[in-house]
Order: sequence, then C-alpha cells, then structure tokens
Amino acid sequence: MTKFDTTIIGSGPGGYVAAIRCAQLGMKTAIIERYPTLGGTCLNVGCIPSKALLDSSEHYDHAQRHFETHGIKTLKIELDWPRMRQRKDDVVEQTCAGIQYLMKKNKISVISGHASFEDPKTIKVIGNDGFQETVKTERVIIATGSKPASIPGVKIDKKRIITSTEALSLAKVPKKLIVIGGGVIGLELGSVYARLGSKVQVVEYLDRLIPGMDFALAKEVQRFLKKQGLEFFLSHAVQSAVVKGKSVKVIAKNKKDKEVEFSGDYCLVAVGRRAYTENLGLEKIKLTLDKQGRIPVNDNLETEVPGIYAIGDVVAGAMLAHKAEEEGVFVAETMMGQKPHLNYKAIPGVLYTWPEAAGVGFTEDELKSENYNYKVGSFPFKALGRARASMDTDGFVKVLADKDSDEILGIHLVGARAADLIAEAVVALEYRASAEDIARMSHAHPTYAEAIKEAMLDATEKRSIHM
Ligand code: FAD
Ligand code: NAI
Repeated sequence: MTKFDTTIIGSGPGGYVAAIRCAQLGMKTAIIERYPTLGGTCLNVGCIPSKALLDSSEHYDHAQRHFETHGIKTLKIELDWPRMRQRKDDVVEQTCAGIQYLMKKNKISVISGHASFEDPKTIKVIGNDGFQETVKTERVIIATGSKPASIPGVKIDKKRIITSTEALSLAKVPKKLIVIGGGVIGLELGSVYARLGSKVQVVEYLDRLIPGMDFALAKEVQRFLKKQGLEFFLSHAVQSAVVKGKSVKVIAKNKKDKEVEFSGDYCLVAVGRRAYTENLGLEKIKLTLDKQGRIPVNDNLETEVPGIYAIGDVVAGAMLAHKAEEEGVFVAETMMGQKPHLNYKAIPGVLYTWPEAAGVGFTEDELKSENYNYKVGSFPFKALGRARASMDTDGFVKVLADKDSDEILGIHLVGARAADLIAEAVVALEYRASAEDIARMSHAHPTYAEAIKEAMLDATEKRSIHM
C-alpha cells in the first residue's frame, strides 16, 4: 500500500492541473482516473474534439462560401466526413498523450480505475480488469467533473436522442438535426453540422440564446447564425422526444401554449450538465451534496470534511475548463499555506461559433439590476481595416465602465478571434484598469484588437477615432 501527501480523483483540467501544481510544490502526488485516457471531459469528449470539428467545418464552409471572392478557384469541394472525424480523434489522442507525459515528467503516480472513499484518508480503486488497490493519503482533491443532463420527457438513448459525446462521433452527417437548448453546446455543435449541410433547428426554452452572456452578444449571435442557416425556436419548452425508426419526434410548447412538432434524424440534448459523484463513497465520509447534486465547499474549496477539497464542474460555478484549472492551482497552493487569489468575475466565457463571442466581468443586465451608474462604449468590426481585409465584418466590442471612476466593469465582444481577444479584457479587469488606460495603449495596426481600443475611446469620452 502506497501513501501519498495528496490524491486527486479525476484527471480532467481541474484534476491534472491540481496534480501538477501539487507536485511542483513538493507533495507526493497520485491521480486516479477511471477512463483509459487522461484529460477528462475536456480533452476526450468536450473542448478539444468540439474545437477540432469546429475548425475543420469552418475550413469547409470558408472554402465553399468565400474562396471565390478571395480569388481562389477550386475544382470541386467535397466533404470527407470519416477523414474529418479521424483528424479530430488524432488531435484528442495527441492531447491526452501529452497529459500522460506531464504526469511522468512531474513524477505523479497515475492509478487507473474507479475511486471510492473508505474513510477520509483511504481510497479504494477498482480497475476495469478487476484489479484493486488501496491508496492511503493525507489529503484528497475531488475533481470528478460532470455528465450531460436531460429534461423530463426526454430519455437519452445515445443512438437517436444523443448528448454532445455521441454528436462528436456520428457515423453520418444528419440530414436534419434538432437541438434542444440554445446554450454553448447547442450552438457550437449546431454550427458544425449546419456548415456540413444539415438542417439544424434549435429549440430553446428561454426567449434568448446563450443565457449568462451579455444580451447584446446573444442577439448578434442569433443574427449571424440565422444567416448561416440555423433556425431558432425561442420560448419553446420541450415536452417530449420519441424515437420512431430512424427519426426522432420532438414536441415543444410555445409561448401561446400551443404544441409545436419537430422531426429530425437525430435530437441533440444540450440542456446543461450535472455534477458527477456516482459511487464515490461520499456516504462513508459523511459528505452531503447540495440540492443540485454538487459538492459544497468553503472559500478555500475545502469540503466540510477537513483535508478533502473539491474543484471544477463538481462544485458550484461556471462549468468551464479554465475555471477548473484555476481552482486546481488555488487548492494546491492553499494546502501549502499560501494565499492565492481567484477572481471569479475575471473568468471569461467564450462561444466558439464563427465569428466567436466572448465576455468577462459584469453583463449590462447585471449592472441594470443593481442600478449601477455605468456607461457604455462600443465599436463595430465593420469599421476595422483588419476585419474588412479578412471579410470578417460581423460583430462589435462593447465595454461597460463605471460612470464616475471610468473603471472597466465588463467587456463583451463578438467577432473574429474574440476567444483570443478576451485575454486583453481579463488583464484589464484584473488590474482594475480604466477605459482610458486601455484607450491610451498602442494596439498594433491592422488587428482585430484595435476594436477594443476604439471601444475604450468611445467609453472614455465618445472619442473613438475610426467611427
Ligand atoms: P472533467 O473534465 O469532467 O473530468 C473529470 C474526470 O473524473 C473524468 O475523466 C472522469 O472519468 C473522472 N472520474 C469521475 N469519477 C471518478 C471516480 N470515482 N474515480 C476515478 N475517476 C473518476 N469548457 C471550456 O472552458 N471551453 C470549451 O471550449 C469547452 N467545450 C466543451 C465542449 C463540450 C462538448 C463539453 C461537453 C464541455 C465543454 N467544456 C468547455 C466544459 C469542460 O469540458 C468542463 O468544464 C471541464 O472538463 C471540467 O473539468 P473537471 O476537471 O472539473 O472535470
Ligand atoms: P447551457 O447551460 O449552456 O445551455 C443549456 C440551454 O438549454 C439553456 O439555454 C437552457 O435555457 C436550455 N433549456 C433548458 N431546458 C430546456 C427545455 N426544456 N427546452 C428547451 N431548452 C431548454 O448548457 P450546455 O450547452 O448543455 O453546456 C453545458 C456546459 O458545458 C456549460 O455549462 C458550459 O459551461 C460547458 N461548455 C462550455 C463551452 C465553451 O466554453 N465554449 C462549450 C461547450 C460546453
């Protein structure tokens, strides 16, 4: 029996990053993973495969719709879906292998199998082949992540009524795909299939898309995705989904309480995810879950059982890989008596459609609901030289700042490379910059980032240069 200083359960972005930081700080560290590969949801069936398919389908779409305008003649553009899927699988394989390498490099013991508590300092691991091991440990970090959720009346069969996991590996491109939920998964995977030729219908309960993001972004995203062929049915509450042979029938009720029927060859259920703690033996350490099935933690991310911490999707907060990573580092450093800092308001959210949408800080709705005295600056991508050069003129930057002090409170943008541009916004928020601070900094020309500078100028004194 081996004894460790810290044992981490789950090797997603929360778990593996926590393990590396623990090892860097000198702890004898183990990580337990029940799946054959490391990397969790994010690397295996989440962020990485979805972005690989988004990138490939973007190339296909650009080749079909924009090459001619750029003066590129092609004979015939054809989709090789098995090859596209294979490339995605190769990217996943390389990325997961990279984590295995990082574990080795940091001398972290990787234990393969399902972990469950015997007591707060003893974990039983059962491997797929029946192999059993008992791990003794001083401290534990639970990073067991999440699984797709469903809604009453919709039973996921993983064949026709599917989750994001199956949607990443469909044998054929569907003719018609019904997506329940206009959140991040629905819009990203809906975009993939719309670009590849599927008719995609998104059925959303609320009267808007991407809840949680600034409403201006939601409206713009809906506008350009509609242009790309996706159909939206907002304020439609799904009641049921039934498989009939090779098709799925979905019934929803609209605002007038009338039943509306949809049918497609697949139905993607993308209505959120729930924390995963199955067979973890939490009863043996007397750890109870909150109403949403998440593990309750204090400000140090420690549970009510001393020495047991929890991070990532299994605790409250945004279900994002980079949030899980920050929490992993935070816990490792806290365990060693350090005083790390984690500002949840400065964790960005990104939607990887094309163009992309991203936001950080307060949304305008949040400021309004608090009667905050704020001002708005904005700048459209169509006024940017760089955006015209690449024909990416959809989108804008919107900055929210304190009306008196000029401190930046939130930055929301939709447009080419928004996912990367948001990093500047995070720096600005973390350093509590004023809009004028950023407006006075040189931004390379011609770049998409100039839109941020211009929006800051607009917020400062309505003095943007190029509008
Ligand atoms: P997970 O990544 O879920 O890892 C948990 C791990 O714990 C799993 O490997 C699981 O097998 C293991 N485990 C569970 N129980 C046990 C046990 N008892 N014993 C041993 N092992 C166990 N986020 C972003 O920030 N950006 C994106 O672009 C993005 N895209 C996404 C796309 C899709 C399709 C999906 C589904 C999610 C996406 N996410 C994205 C969300 C992101 O994947 C999660 O927020 C992130 O993976 C959470 O990390 P985690 O470490 O908390 O848990
Ligand atoms: P989500 O919470 O983003 O969206 C779910 C949507 O389903 C909401 O708009 C909700 O109103 C709608 N809905 C709920 N019940 C409904 C009903 N009965 N009928 C119709 N619509 C209904 O969840 P999603 O898209 O499943 O993603 C899960 C998690 O994965 C997210 O929390 C996200 O953080 C993470 N993720 C992040 C990505 C990124 O960062 N780019 C990409 C993909 C996933």
